[in-house]
Amino acid sequence: MGSLADKLTVVFADAFESAGYDRSYGEVRVSDRPDLCQYQCNGALAAAKRYRTSPREIAQNVVDTIRAPEVVRDLSLAGPGFINVVLTDEYIARHVQEVHDDDRLGCEAVARPLRIMVDYGGPNVAKPLHVGHLRAAIIGESIVRICRFVGHEVIGDVHLGDWGLQMGLIIAALEESRPDLPYFDHDFAGHYPDDPPVNIADLEEIYPKAAERQKTDLEFAESARQATVDLQAGRPGYRALWQQFRDVSVDDLRQSYEQLNIRFDLWLGESDTQDRVRGLIARLKQEGYALESRGALIVEVGEPGDREEIPPLMLEKTDGAVLYGTTDLATIEQRVEQFTPDLILYVVDNRQQQHFKQVFKASYKTGVAPESTRLEHDGFGTMNGKDGKPFKTREGGIMKLKDLIALVTDHARARVEAIESVREYAEDEKEDISRIVGVAALKYADLMNHRTKDYVFDLERFSSFEGRTGPYILYAAVRIKSVLRRAAERGLQPGRILAPLSESERDLDLKLSELPGTIALAFETRAPNHLCEYAFQLATAYNRFYHVHHMLNEEDAQRRDSWLALSEVTLRVLERVLDLLGIEVPRRM
Ligand code: ARG
Repeated sequence: MGSLADKLTVVFADAFESAGYDRSYGEVRVSDRPDLCQYQCNGALAAAKRYRTSPREIAQNVVDTIRAPEVVRDLSLAGPGFINVVLTDEYIARHVQEVHDDDRLGCEAVARPLRIMVDYGGPNVAKPLHVGHLRAAIIGESIVRICRFVGHEVIGDVHLGDWGLQMGLIIAALEESRPDLPYFDHDFAGHYPDDPPVNIADLEEIYPKAAERQKTDLEFAESARQATVDLQAGRPGYRALWQQFRDVSVDDLRQSYEQLNIRFDLWLGESDTQDRVRGLIARLKQEGYALESRGALIVEVGEPGDREEIPPLMLEKTDGAVLYGTTDLATIEQRVEQFTPDLILYVVDNRQQQHFKQVFKASYKTGVAPESTRLEHDGFGTMNGKDGKPFKTREGGIMKLKDLIALVTDHARARVEAIESVREYAEDEKEDISRIVGVAALKYADLMNHRTKDYVFDLERFSSFEGRTGPYILYAAVRIKSVLRRAAERGLQPGRILAPLSESERDLDLKLSELPGTIALAFETRAPNHLCEYAFQLATAYNRFYHVHHMLNEEDAQRRDSWLALSEVTLRVLERVLDLLGIEVPRRM
């Protein structure tokens, strides 16, 4: 069914056609001057060039053909040839009723769904999940949800970093401190212990120390390098140990993601390419794509006409270890084989732009990806501290995601407990609300900026119940729930939606109709920020309406029930948008 703008576009396309012009000029959009009109059509300006007529004349001809008194209240020409549109209140109300009656709230699902894979999150096993990974997970989850709602078939993959040097560093460090463990005994033939020798806290301590140490301790760096090679080559003790590191990490990661309302369909990682990576390298060598270069193996990806030089993709180091790019290439091969995706989206930090350029070019060049699989890097900026540098803890260390979640929850708790109605709730409900509000503050603040931009972490501002914040929008949603609950307690039912009585009611009606266009834009640009802005505007429109019309005291029953229906559809739209952002809504607060 589409939005009001979509419906008007049909009316205008018809009009352009009957006036003797091409239909394609009939596009109507929401007015950027809401003080003058609700919708506008600027097609006459473009048509003027083609038909060598003045745009005002074309616009006038179009306006003269439109006979739709039940739809249009006012049509006027403005400026060089814009057509300004004001709709009848009855038509607007009829549309909102249709939105209300539609499961998909007016949004049509795509006719031809694509199969889309989304690679997001990208945490590294054994390394703490830090705020750098936060954006990948938050933005990626929203993109997954948007693609899915639009009607595509979506497969989200966490793509664990579990096959690189960090594994060798931990193995080497543990081998040194616990040489007695059977994993390090070459002759060990028994069953390795079922319980891992380390827990997540140990891993989080061992890794940063080892990473620091390798910078100065060359002997240690060498054993870590060797351990990485041996692990990749299949040394049984290392494999067993590695598997346990991975399990311990994944358990911990799942918990953090769960609290953030983030769910992956696949928990694959770099290591899942181990069975195919050697075969791939052999083929690329044989077909002349992989070249020897100073002992290492590379794929040239630069081309003669390139504007800037792009370095080759490294496949194998001199010692035979494979790299980040190799596993990415093999992962594409695997995804293509297993899923034949039309599109693979990589939601990864902007700073890896060059890496993905190399990987994508190498994939097409070597036939790993067919032309029919589109590879796309959707990069994002950094979350900075107030000093403008990547966000750190107060002590200057990297902030772990778990600690960040605790921080936002604690911060929200103080504010949530200050809400009068919340005081009497049971402790665990308060706790749940605090987490939901804290995470909403964090996610909304992250998603409201265009993903490619950096932004500053400012918990005070994120957590305010005023302005463009998660808590403000949750509060609006919960307020609607409470109105509907009170109405239900009095036995009142939402009725038919009537023509708006006031400007604030009309504004709310019009806002409700903008959902399809907003989702389409967010999908096309992979940019959830459009949904954040929309949620804010819708919440604000509802709040204005709520303050003007005292629903439950209204004596005209039809009017009251119409407002209840309007509240109901507003809540559904708001909840839908929040769900697309990956933000939960508490039952009450
Ligand atoms: N693990 C990587 C990192 O921490 C991110 C992985 C992104 N995905 C990919 N297919 N390379 O930087």
